Amino acid sequence: MRIWVTGGAGFIGNHLVRHLVRNYPQDHIIVVDALTYAGNLANLSDVAEAPNYTFYKADIADATAMEALWQTHPPDAILHLAAESHVDRSILSPRHFVHTNVLGTITLLELARGLWKDRSDVVFYQVSTDEVYGSLSDEGFFEEGTPYDPRSPYSASKAAADHFVRAYGHTYGLPYLISNCGNNYGPYQFPEKLIPLTILNLMQRKPIPIYGRGENVRDWIYVEDHVRAIDRLLRAGRRGHTYLIGAENPRRNIDVVSRLCQLYDEITGSQDSLSLITFVTDRPGHDYRYAIKPSPHLLELGWRPQVSFDEGLRQTIRWYLDNPDWIAAVQTGEYRHYYEMQYGSRLRG
Ligand code: NAD
Ligand code: DAU
Repeated sequence: MRIWVTGGAGFIGNHLVRHLVRNYPQDHIIVVDALTYAGNLANLSDVAEAPNYTFYKADIADATAMEALWQTHPPDAILHLAAESHVDRSILSPRHFVHTNVLGTITLLELARGLWKDRSDVVFYQVSTDEVYGSLSDEGFFEEGTPYDPRSPYSASKAAADHFVRAYGHTYGLPYLISNCGNNYGPYQFPEKLIPLTILNLMQRKPIPIYGRGENVRDWIYVEDHVRAIDRLLRAGRRGHTYLIGAENPRRNIDVVSRLCQLYDEITGSQDSLSLITFVTDRPGHDYRYAIKPSPHLLELGWRPQVSFDEGLRQTIRWYLDNPDWIAAVQTGEYRHYYEMQYGSRLRG
């Protein structure tokens, strides 16, 4: 099978690509990625020489470039991960999110429709987020069938893309799958997201910014568990179906960051990391709580999360401690500029 992975040089993408390249030598894994600030070829360096792996740099919204690539290696499956993925950046600059998440997705759908006429043995797999379902109160879960209610520019753009995927399935018969997952964490995550940002600030003994009172809840999953679920669904998921992926691990932000501080002190022998926690002005429109009931059919297929939260956090902390070069390469001028825009006045009070 020839599997295209869009956004393969990003956080989840690089774990997925490594998993596919190593476990399916008979498949050809082809990555297309624009290498934005969030994409990093170094993330894929340990598969770079694999005979069943190829990389192309391109913007998925560039129909001419994508058509030329797909004529050269026609896909049997498209795992679509390329996206602008950070909620805070979507609040600063929504347009970029429409370009990649909406126009980029439609560009791929149009090309797939033309390329896959009369083929039913193919699949367009849209990797999406639980944020499309909006915000929960203290009770309840997102389940299959929960109505979409996106509330940030990021989640609105992902919801639009999901709806287009379903519309192509319904209108043109395009075989598709969608999965909506909660908050991923693990090695190689860009340090704009809560967990890697906290770890880097712990390493650099800088204040750890927590929005509001830290009472918002996110449902966390180790990235490799998400990757195993995607693989399972690619091979055995029902076409035309939307799956929820979650490890049933909802936690308050303050509890996540406090646990990270404790584990960091245990691992490194540092002291009093909890004192770095700093409450700052809240994210505008901050969704209160996410919690996922994983799809029954995914569980019937035998998928279960394998990495406990403490073990995942430990592995993640150790990975950042062991990879100072990776950190130095991503903490560029662009990152410092973003950090100042996002946190400068918040932290100065
Ligand atoms: P990421 O930001 O780490 O990586 C995104 C990748 O897409 C980068 O490599 C970037 O270079 C690439 N990209 C961006 N714009 C592009 C374009 N126009 N053309 C080609 N490539 C482009 O994101 P991630 O956290 O790995 O998320 C991957 C996917 O999973 C996204 O679709 C996201 O919405 C979804 N998702 C993420 C999470 C999470 O917690 N991170 C949870 C659920 C779903
Ligand atoms: O739920 C899935 C989504 O999870 C994915 O679709 C997104 O791509 C991914 O970015 C993530 O979105 P969140 O907004 O939940 O992730 P983030 O790491 O930015 O924030 C997690 C929580 O921590 C959220 O409630 C906001 C809070 N937070 C975040 C940052 C960066 C802080 O309190 N301080 C911070 O500095």
